[in-house]
This record gives sequence, structure tokens and C-alpha cells, in this order.
Amino acid sequence: DVPILISPSVLNADLANLTDEIGRITHADYVHLDVMDNHFVPNMTFGLPVVERILATTDVPADVHLMIDHPDEWAPAYAEAGAASVTFHAEASNAPVRLARELRAKGARASIALRPATGVEGYLDLLDEFDMVLVMTVEPGFGGQSLITGTLPKIRRTREAITALGRDIWVQVDGGISRDTIATAAAAGANMFVAGSAVYSADDPNAEIGALRETATA
Ligand code: DX5
Ligand code: ZN
Repeated sequence: DVPILISPSVLNADLANLTDEIGRITHADYVHLDVMDNHFVPNMTFGLPVVERILATTDVPADVHLMIDHPDEWAPAYAEAGAASVTFHAEASNAPVRLARELRAKGARASIALRPATGVEGYLDLLDEFDMVLVMTVEPGFGGQSLITGTLPKIRRTREAITALGRDIWVQVDGGISRDTIATAAAAGANMFVAGSAVYSADDPNAEIGALRETATA
């Protein structure tokens, strides 16, 4: 069966205190790290040196989301650094299949992300090359936005194609995921849920992770 996985994003956590902030989400399956370069998205966060330090100081597996131009050039270094999963954007990669194979060869799960306006159709014949498809449920760049319901049919089409293939490929959703929206995303076929503001605005992030998990499973 498809596992239900919660991957809190530290984007809206205290970025000056990441060690403690990641220490507050020990019940998470992954920690979601949003790398932004101010080119692919109009915002900038952190890059490889910071991710390397996070990997060295936490036991929670890292789910790296690269919102950057030229991922073909940069993504393999994150796999080499020990990220459990590396997601790059379809819109930014010149050779997604070659890149996915390179990520896998370096021991990471290979994942491809689709902005809200990017169709999944062009990737359906290539699903076997990926361990996960990230269907963005907001325009990437910022936390705290509302889920765009127009992305739900794409989640459904992606899950249907994976089921037809009979593969264990995960479908991740990212953006606007909360107790109010997670069941809808799960019903559409998502199984890995990124939640930034929902987890880090809670008094008890671990309890919120539990609540999200329960709501997704219900
Ligand atoms: C947005 C990032 C997300 C962000 C989600 O571009 O990719 O991971 O942190 O934040 P919320 O859960 O607040 O929508
Ligand atoms: Zn993200």
C-alpha cells in the first residue's frame, strides 16, 4: 500500500535556528528543504552549504525541493551530500530523465516537480524514471498561500497513471496543505504532504504532524 508521509517545510520556521526547529518535528517522515535561487522563483533561501550542515546535524531524512534554474548542473551535489530525496522542476531541467538517473545513481530518490500550469501528460510515459512526482498546489516561492483547487485533477491523473503502471511512485503535494485541505489532496491521490505554515505556526509541531497524518488517513 501507498504510505502516508508528512514532510514539514522549514521555510516559515526560524531560519536562524534551524537545528532547534528541526528538533521540533521528530515525528515527521522527512524534513522538506526549500532551496530558492531568486531566478526560478522570486525569493531566495539557502543552498548546498546550509543543506550539508542540516544533513550532518539531523536524523530526519531530507526531502530537498530545488526551486532553481539549471538543476541539471546543481541537483546531483545534493544527492551526493546525502539528501534522501531530491526534487527538481520540470520547467527548469533540460534533460529530466538523464538527471533523474544521475540522482538515483548517487543514491537519492529522484523526483520531478510541476508548477500549477505545467501538465503531467508529457511525463506519463516516463514515470518509471522517477520515484516521486511533486504536484505543486501553489505557485512556488512563498509559504502561507492557499491551495489552488485547479491542481486537483492533475493529482488524480498522476495517481491513475501510477496505479495503471503498478509502480510504487509517490505523489507529493506542496502548498496550502493544512487540516482543512489535506483530506482533499489525499482523496485525489497524493500520499506525501508538505506542510510549512500549518506545522510551524502550531504551538506543538509534532502534535500538528500527528493531526495532519490522521486527517489524511481518515
Ligand atoms: C513554496 C514551498 C513550500 C512552502 C509551503 O514554494 O515550496 O514548501 O514552504 O508552505 P505552506 O505549507 O505554508 O503553503
Ligand atoms: Zn517546497
